[in-house]
Amino acid sequence: MKSTRISLFLVFVSFCSLFARADEGMWLPMLVSKYNMNAMQQMGLRLTADQIYSVNQACLKDALVSLDHGGCTGSIISPKGLLITNHHCGYEAIAEQSSVGSNFLSDGFWAMRPEEELPITGKTVSFLIRMEDVTARVLANVTSAMDEGERASVIQKETDLIVKAAETESGFEVSVESMFEGNEYYMFYYQTFTDVRMVGAPPSSIGKFGGDTDNWMWPRHTGDFCLLRVYSASDGKPAEYSKNNVPLQPKYFLPLSLAGVKEGDFSMILGYPGATDRYLTSYGISEKLSQGNPADIKAKWAKMEVMKKYMDGDEATRIAYAGDYAYLANFWKKSLQESKALQRLKVFDDKKKTEDAFQAWVQQDEGRKQTYGSVMNDFSTLYQTSALNRANEATSYAGELLMGARILYIAFQTGELVSRFDSADFKDMVSSNKIKAAKFYKTFNPALEKELLKNMLRLYVSNVSEQYIPDCYTLINKKFRGDIGKYVDHMFDHSIFASEASLLEFLNNPRKKTIKKDPAYVAANSFISSYMLARLAQMTDEDKFSKARRLYIAGLREMQPETTFYPDANSTLRLTYGSVKSYSPADALYADYYTSLQGVMEKEDSTNAEFVVSPKLKDLYSKKDFGPYAEKGVMHVCFLTTHDITGGNSGSPVINGNGELIGLAFDGNSEAMSSDIKFDVNVQRTICVDIRYVLFVVDKYAGAGYLLDELKIAR
Ligand code: ARG
Repeated sequence: MKSTRISLFLVFVSFCSLFARADEGMWLPMLVSKYNMNAMQQMGLRLTADQIYSVNQACLKDALVSLDHGGCTGSIISPKGLLITNHHCGYEAIAEQSSVGSNFLSDGFWAMRPEEELPITGKTVSFLIRMEDVTARVLANVTSAMDEGERASVIQKETDLIVKAAETESGFEVSVESMFEGNEYYMFYYQTFTDVRMVGAPPSSIGKFGGDTDNWMWPRHTGDFCLLRVYSASDGKPAEYSKNNVPLQPKYFLPLSLAGVKEGDFSMILGYPGATDRYLTSYGISEKLSQGNPADIKAKWAKMEVMKKYMDGDEATRIAYAGDYAYLANFWKKSLQESKALQRLKVFDDKKKTEDAFQAWVQQDEGRKQTYGSVMNDFSTLYQTSALNRANEATSYAGELLMGARILYIAFQTGELVSRFDSADFKDMVSSNKIKAAKFYKTFNPALEKELLKNMLRLYVSNVSEQYIPDCYTLINKKFRGDIGKYVDHMFDHSIFASEASLLEFLNNPRKKTIKKDPAYVAANSFISSYMLARLAQMTDEDKFSKARRLYIAGLREMQPETTFYPDANSTLRLTYGSVKSYSPADALYADYYTSLQGVMEKEDSTNAEFVVSPKLKDLYSKKDFGPYAEKGVMHVCFLTTHDITGGNSGSPVINGNGELIGLAFDGNSEAMSSDIKFDVNVQRTICVDIRYVLFVVDKYAGAGYLLDELKIAR
């Protein structure tokens, strides 16, 4: 029974939300002053637009970084370049630094002095210096009479000129990115640092607590954070790793807050979301459900099954394959849950409704018919080409195979030598291949690799259409009577790529013929040929697709002039704002907005590696030794917000109305896994680790409290 008081309250709430509606939207920071400031201030933001994004003064954006050019997000939290991101963003690096006997994945890592910080090869950290709208310049020479090919080449030419001029003038790295499928263009200036070091990481029993079982799930109890440090040359400029480098002095760093969060609190996230597909049509959804996701799920699972078997049996293998396995498991589950959510939330119907409205709007006017008349029909035809479907299937399975079977990968990489035997830098290439090989075989388990390749070859041939079956299968049929097992065994017995020793022996005395007839090299090439053939088929229609997508978005915007649109994620800096909020994951269920350490203890299962709790953590819990980080005696671990994020946002700072760090975004909830295609505020939540739990782990659990001295903590 509803009381009048409650209904009045609901009326009030929906009235307020008319004005302060947010949640959905990945906004370009330079435009928040125009589009979002009013709403954000009404919801509780106490900063000005210039404090978020400005080219003239130090601001939040100057504390934000993109890791590895779009892999994850991090933020600077001290004047000495200390950087915080997710544990799963540092996971590969932590695994790479680990070995049996010194396993930082299982035991955690803490540099107790600057000299103990570990350089991470290959890690990059990029700061956005500024961005500009360059649409008018990029499209200046484009006319409506041009076909897609001409259009693309005119745009490319103009973009190259703009980028070159901007790089010369500024000295920064510059890129131009398309927004709204080629309706707008923005230019971004970046500065990238390459001397990045590992400072601290909790053990996986905290940083990956709940493992793949809890991944994409709420309630969650993961301390998903790690600490890195950015170093620069003594003049503050980027420099390759050197002992003489100094901790970066950032333009700005985020202060932290111990105040915690309550339901309804305003918060925002700045970060680098990778890709969304919010304008995907109902046709695209059908394709995803019937083909794209099933192929992805099958192929990833085929690899995971084998990897898991070998990883369970051997610690060295577990470390060697940890990064790849985590990646596969993450996206395998994402595809599974995405299909479920698309169906449960009826996203197809929803898209269809929009498309019908669009079509009706187009029919109302001759000019619209001219411009947009064929768009929907084009989508329908494009998605129905069975040639395209077959090509999609081939690239999915071939991609997973080529990325999964390491012997094919190294064979292909080294195979480059074939065309370089007579070139001047051949000797250098051989030396660099020797260095690569030494690293490569550290994480190569031949037994696992054999079984994985066998599985993938069987899967490929039973799922991909005849025209994309590579000629290595002819060989399998002729020479091995169709026995894939024998073929792979033979490959591993005879390929120079089956072990480090045989590859080194070859590199010491390289001969073109040896590579050319190597069975792994031959197999890799035959798969790449089929892959390229399928890509070519995909690209035949790419022009038509991109035109339909561009026109569809242009039309939707014209049809709804009152609505402010945001562009799909594309690894550029975005702001999303909303509030801390509980939700209902399913009928009859209510999920609170935060979890606590009690939940970690409840989930403990010493027989399951994903749910082991360390004695130290149990001890702190039982003594309630939480320092200043608990709230009324309760140690909060994670919380939920309504932010609009996706992959790439991992590690993004969650910032309160005062501009202080209150948590890190690290996941989304499975019930809303359709979110890359459609945001649904009723179910979509961002899962964040509470910054107070982070500080508790650093200070109380790890005893690395000295690190807190360089932070600015509002108490
Ligand atoms: N789902 C999260 C993401 O995509 C976390 C992934 C890492 N965790 C894991 N258990 N594999 O960012």
